Amino acid sequence: MSPSPLPFGCRLIDFTLRGDERGSLIALEAGKEVPFEIRRTYYIFGTKEGVSRGFHAHRQLQQLLLVLNGSCRLVVDDGETRAEVILDRPDTGLLITGLVWREMHDFSHDCVLLALADRPYDPADYLRNYADFTAAVKQITA
Ligand code: TYD
Repeated sequence: MSPSPLPFGCRLIDFTLRGDERGSLIALEAGKEVPFEIRRTYYIFGTKEGVSRGFHAHRQLQQLLLVLNGSCRLVVDDGETRAEVILDRPDTGLLITGLVWREMHDFSHDCVLLALADRPYDPADYLRNYADFTAAVKQITA
């Protein structure tokens, strides 16, 4: 977990672990644990050693990121505050609802990173260049 303050638009969410003698179960529902309607999900796995991903922000997209297995390190940045979040347990997720630059690093070989998103895939929603991202932040804070 990140001990430092998270950027605006980022929040860690602890999910209720429904465990019994058989093992564990976590349920995520739109409007409950997930504060948006889920329109898309994707998962990243089999990431090669040393590979980093992301390096973009979204203009509109809201996402909840969590690891189903393994671990990875996320860097999140609102243009002013930059923080690192280690996702290494399936009962914690990182909610990103604002204009936030995100990077994903240090994927363990067994990492399965799940994303729940509130919109279909739209390349036009991406800011893939850090300078464009900071310009967009300035625009909305002006
Ligand atoms: P990419 O944006 O490079 O992933 P990341 O930012 O996590 O490193 O996505 C890899 C490919 O998958 C790219 O061709 C776009 C495609 N893609 C979809 O078709 N739908 C999706 O929902 C996502 C996230 C990616």
